[in-house]
Amino acid sequence: LADPGFSRAVIDWQRSHGRHALPWQNTHDAYRIWLSEIMLQQTQVAAVLGYYARFLERFPTVQDLAAAPQEDVMPHWSGLGYYTRARNLHACARRVVAEYGGVFPSDPALLADLPGIGRSTAAAIAAFSAGVRAAIMDGNVKRVFARVFGIDQYPGIKPVEDALWRRADALLPPGGDGIGAYTQGLMDLGATLCTRSRPECGRCPLQDRCVAYATGRTAELPVRKPK
Ligand code: ADE
Ligand code: SF4
Repeated sequence: LADPGFSRAVIDWQRSHGRHALPWQNTHDAYRIWLSEIMLQQTQVAAVLGYYARFLERFPTVQDLAAAPQEDVMPHWSGLGYYTRARNLHACARRVVAEYGGVFPSDPALLADLPGIGRSTAAAIAAFSAGVRAAIMDGNVKRVFARVFGIDQYPGIKPVEDALWRRADALLPPGGDGIGAYTQGLMDLGATLCTRSRPECGRCPLQDRCVAYATGRTAELPVRKPK
């Protein structure tokens, strides 16, 4: 399953064609990275930008957020929806302050134990803030993998998801070199080229190893949820 050329291709593409000026990039501040990843879990980048800036103005550090009463947090979230995220966000800030002295852990397993942080979000935070070698698998990345590997089963079921995680682990950059660019590159590919409809395979760095492209099945993959 290993293929060092895979991460090399993603990293090189990210450096020349990926996104580099999003407000949560070019920082190793785990608080800022965590906040962005939580906001981006169910909301598009364009919708997040304004909320992200205003939230950080009001709560510049994890201590500021932890110290605020819950009713001060909600107004800075309302409009983003999914209010469980806001409650978990606040609870997570309080635990980081109480249990980690206000410093986010860099171990993905410890991050994933915190409220609102699943396996993929934990890996993204660890990779971006601390250069930790860990695999992500959000909705966009799952689509890229399902197409590249030609997964012809619905990827929402456990055994298929487990297989995708194993492949994602095996494809991480050797030694973790460039893990930030790699992680961002997968997200950027899924968001900008390997889109749900009409992927731009002609510009894709993974075209030469993509099963969906080779077999003309980009419109059929990933397989939709069976009814
Ligand atoms: N979606 C989730 N994480 C992201 C990130 N770091 N940049 C852009 N979109 C994202
Ligand atoms: Fe997606 Fe096309 Fe790239 Fe395959 S070649 S990963 S379908 S953009």
